[in-house]
Amino acid sequence: MSKSYRVAIVGASGAVGVEMLRVMERRNFPVASLRLLASPRSAGRTLSFRGEEIPVEALTIDSFAGIDIALFSAGGGISRDFARTAVDSGAVVVDNSSAFRLSPEVPLVVPEINGADVAGHRGIVANPNCTTAITLMALHPLHKAFRATRLFASSYQAVSGAGARAIDELRRQTEAVAKNQPVEKEIFPHQIAFNVIPQVDSFLDTGYTREEMKMENEGRRILHLPSFRASVTCVRVPVYRAHSVAVSAEFELPVSLDGARAALRAAPGLKFLDEGYPMPLETAGQDDCFAGRLRLDCALDNGLAFWVCGDQLLKGAALNAVQIAELL
Ligand SMILES: NC(=O)c1ccc[n+]([C@@H]2O[C@H](COP(=O)([O-])OP(=O)(O)OC[C@H]3O[C@@H](n4cnc5c(N)ncnc54)[C@H](OP(=O)(O)O)[C@@H]3O)[C@@H](O)[C@H]2O)c1
Repeated sequence: MSKSYRVAIVGASGAVGVEMLRVMERRNFPVASLRLLASPRSAGRTLSFRGEEIPVEALTIDSFAGIDIALFSAGGGISRDFARTAVDSGAVVVDNSSAFRLSPEVPLVVPEINGADVAGHRGIVANPNCTTAITLMALHPLHKAFRATRLFASSYQAVSGAGARAIDELRRQTEAVAKNQPVEKEIFPHQIAFNVIPQVDSFLDTGYTREEMKMENEGRRILHLPSFRASVTCVRVPVYRAHSVAVSAEFELPVSLDGARAALRAAPGLKFLDEGYPMPLETAGQDDCFAGRLRLDCALDNGLAFWVCGDQLLKGAALNAVQIAELL
């Protein structure tokens, strides 16, 4: 009989946590028991898993007794405070926050790209930033073919990337505008309904935001390419779900459209559209990422321009985390 695992989800009531439940159901993850953890606000609620209503418990330092795999998705602070406790209790942690992504002893993994890195873990494996993971799903096959050196990109990031309350904020603001009522904002620094906000996360002294630098910092680790450079502008758009990224990438080897198409068509977890283009409305809810608008970049000597779209709650978070757990 195949082994099954005692699983805990930290942040189970959140936008990503709920998707983790659905992904484990769909992929038939071998769950022996499931513990759902969140803040005291959610304690007593139930969430369904395989037709059963499972109570949500408040997270404490004792939550990990008897747990084999703990999927963390409750923000960096909670991961920093509790991930090592979970490891000390005997669990392997897959962490969805940015807390450990740049720690040398913690593998940072996109299974289709560097799944083998999981083998070196010492109790914690990190899940990459969502925009980075989605972009690399298309960049990596091109990198294998032509050796990427640097990338310029602008992202179009869905509100669900900022969590469950951000989804409500877009809905409430859209209704308020439609009714000519005052717009209230809580999560985003400006009105997001009928607007775009060129700020995701906080600013660094350089003028880039923290989110923007994840592409270079995390990309270097995932691609095993310490010289990789990325200049990114991250933009929040009034889309509920699925991030899009417009990319111009430069390569060491001469590029060709035929070679690029062949590389993208063969990439696992990616669908390449030769005609038309992917958009968030169609990409939402799909495990695969989608690439299109492929062309020779007219402003780079050896460059390709393309558009990539992916459901950031899935490939950028819940799906990738469950795929890592499967590798473990
Ligand atoms: N959303 C995305 O697309 C995405 C993509 C990649 C990575 N991530 C990362 O995934 C994590 C979760 O994001 P999310 O979008 O799911 O956020 P979210 O919808 O705001 O959910 C946050 C979760 O954390 C729980 N939580 C908050 N404070 C807690 C506490 N003190 N103790 C225990 N649990 C607590 C919340 O519980 P309550 O419901 O009880 O408040 C909720 O379950 C973040 O680190 C985020 O950066 C998100």
